[in-house]
Amino acid sequence: MSGDISKTNASGATEEVAVKTSGLTKKYRRGDVEFAALSNVDLTIRRGEFVAVSGASGSGKSTLLHLIAGLTRPTSGSVEVEGKRIFDGGDRATTIFRRRRIGVVFQNYNLIPCLTAEENVLFPLRADGRDVGATREKIRALCEELEISRQLSQYPDALSGGQRQRVALARALAPDPAVLLADEPTGNLDWESGQNVCRVLDKLNREEERTIVLVTHEPAVAIWASRLIVLRDGEIAADLPTNGFADASALAARCQEIARRRSANA
Ligand SMILES: Nc1ncnc2c1ncn2[C@@H]1O[C@H](COP(=O)(O)OP(=O)(O)OP(=O)(O)O)[C@@H](O)[C@H]1O
Ligand SMILES: [Mg+2]
Repeated sequence: MSGDISKTNASGATEEVAVKTSGLTKKYRRGDVEFAALSNVDLTIRRGEFVAVSGASGSGKSTLLHLIAGLTRPTSGSVEVEGKRIFDGGDRATTIFRRRRIGVVFQNYNLIPCLTAEENVLFPLRADGRDVGATREKIRALCEELEISRQLSQYPDALSGGQRQRVALARALAPDPAVLLADEPTGNLDWESGQNVCRVLDKLNREEERTIVLVTHEPAVAIWASRLIVLRDGEIAADLPTNGFADASALAARCQEIARRRSANA
């Protein structure tokens, strides 16, 4: 079943919705105790938005991304991506939809060890029966921008953490996904390489209107997004535009303030 992906904004213009979660909840058990890794999250992300998701370790960032990607089923609530209710139609339908419309960069990369970096990058296209030849040049250019061209013939275990991370990003982008979900894609990179990845994402977002949801701990990365969502104990603690911040330090100070509010409330 498809939902309505149009939404009317305050000025009456119609915006298209890329991601919509309603009452999204994921509970796990810790021993005998059940707890909510994500609790009742209502979130709407417009098509073409660049959103950063931040929050302390364990606050539910990866859980949120996995639910949006349809990799984990929610305990309750729903997820729509590009108007499609992601869990309708069974696991196979979800997998095919994800392969075509959503790119995922996993926090632990999830590269296939027995394939070279290039084969990893091309894997989603091949799995979907798509013509690799038609997009090879575009993918080569992407790998050039991500500075991994010289590593393409190597196997993942011969790559550094930062190189693996960029191969995982190239793999997520290879099928031209409408929505990119990236879990700390700069977490293993030095500052300059991290900023370079941000430049590539920014370009994809601005020139191709790609919707990007990026989990990061780093204010210098989050500042590239236009909106910052801060998770706290599985709930949205803050949802703010980043254009009001002069620089990454100002954004970092605000994030610390949000974290302090938590301590004060605890
Ligand atoms: N499969 C699982 N089984 C049980 N508990 C889980 C599972 N996955 C996540 N959790 C728990 O859910 C909570 C949120 O985890 P999540 O991985 O989403 O956090 P995170 O914000 O991504 O943290 P980090 O910054 O360390 O990556 C944590 O308490 C974690 O231990
Ligand atoms: Mg995580």
